[in-house]
Amino acid sequence: MVDLNDAKSLRAIDSTDFLVSLTGLGAQCMKAYELTQGVALPKVQDVKAVVVTGLGGSAIGGDLLRVYSQERLSIPVIVNRDYTLPAFVDGNTLVFAVSYSGNTEETLSAYQDALEKGSAVVALTSGGKLKGLADRDGIPVIQVPVGLAPRAATGYLFIPMLAVLERLGMLHGLAGEVSEVTRELEGYADIYGPGTPVEKNPAKRLALDFEGRIPVIWGAGGTTDVAAQRWKGQINENAKAPAYWNVFPELNHNEIVGFEKPEELLRELWVVMLRDRGDHPRVGYRMEITRRIITGRVAGVTEVASAGDGMLARLYSLIYLGDWASVYLALLYGIDPGPVRVIDLLKGELAKR
Ligand code: F6R
Repeated sequence: MVDLNDAKSLRAIDSTDFLVSLTGLGAQCMKAYELTQGVALPKVQDVKAVVVTGLGGSAIGGDLLRVYSQERLSIPVIVNRDYTLPAFVDGNTLVFAVSYSGNTEETLSAYQDALEKGSAVVALTSGGKLKGLADRDGIPVIQVPVGLAPRAATGYLFIPMLAVLERLGMLHGLAGEVSEVTRELEGYADIYGPGTPVEKNPAKRLALDFEGRIPVIWGAGGTTDVAAQRWKGQINENAKAPAYWNVFPELNHNEIVGFEKPEELLRELWVVMLRDRGDHPRVGYRMEITRRIITGRVAGVTEVASAGDGMLARLYSLIYLGDWASVYLALLYGIDPGPVRVIDLLKGELAKR
């Protein structure tokens, strides 16, 4: 039995210091913003779309950008998690090729595709083949520090894209928003960190709710959807456990019907609803009704509202709680949160041919 109040035994399981990386996320966001200021900008005029191409921990920053831009950019932001880019991508598309390691084959392939389509490309990476190719091709590289798990580098894999769009005159006022994120996350690091006992620590309490159950995370389309997806991915990769996510209002038209059978399995689900003040008012109402429908059928329902002023701080407030909860869930299972052996195995097998 792992005691979440015993910080020493938690650190003993955590071989890659994931808890330490998490504590530093606030500072990372500011560093990410600053390191982009001197980077060469892509030569681009009349941008008609932004595409972020990447996978896993390197793609979620694209979703953060998509949600953040929803009400701030008049052009679409598309996230591409594949080997090739959609046919609309052309010389008026700004493509961010994002791979923390720089060696993810799908991203390298999509990078090549972007060059062939004549797009303006920016590489965001800690090094690897992507940096080598971009240097060879004269493509701007935003190089972030090495040594983190990609999913622990979400500041480095998102904020630089905002900074580039700001320097291109497409977004404004980011310095204040990034400062707010840094300040807020540093405050949350104390509340969610290993030194705060279960009774006062919402992240540890959530992990205890999830233990032995299947977390189901629901967000609202266009606001908290990215956080729901992130929670799910973090539970998968950190705790090595299943989790599922979906969005309102869509889930009210299908998933919600599936809460009748099998009753004994439904009782093992723990549902989290992520809310934001930017959610459509009807979505807020839908969440209330949905909660009433599933209460008693599932093990429990937790609602989490974003906190903070700016959209960045609000999104990160949700993401950060999920990050911490997923790491505590790992530790409760006696699982080392850092290593992702299955991903390494898959990449190794794929590299053979
Ligand atoms: C591992 C992780 C993964 C990777 C993904 C792509 O921490 O989060 O989801 O992000 O396998 O690898 P990179 O980010 O190196 O392109």
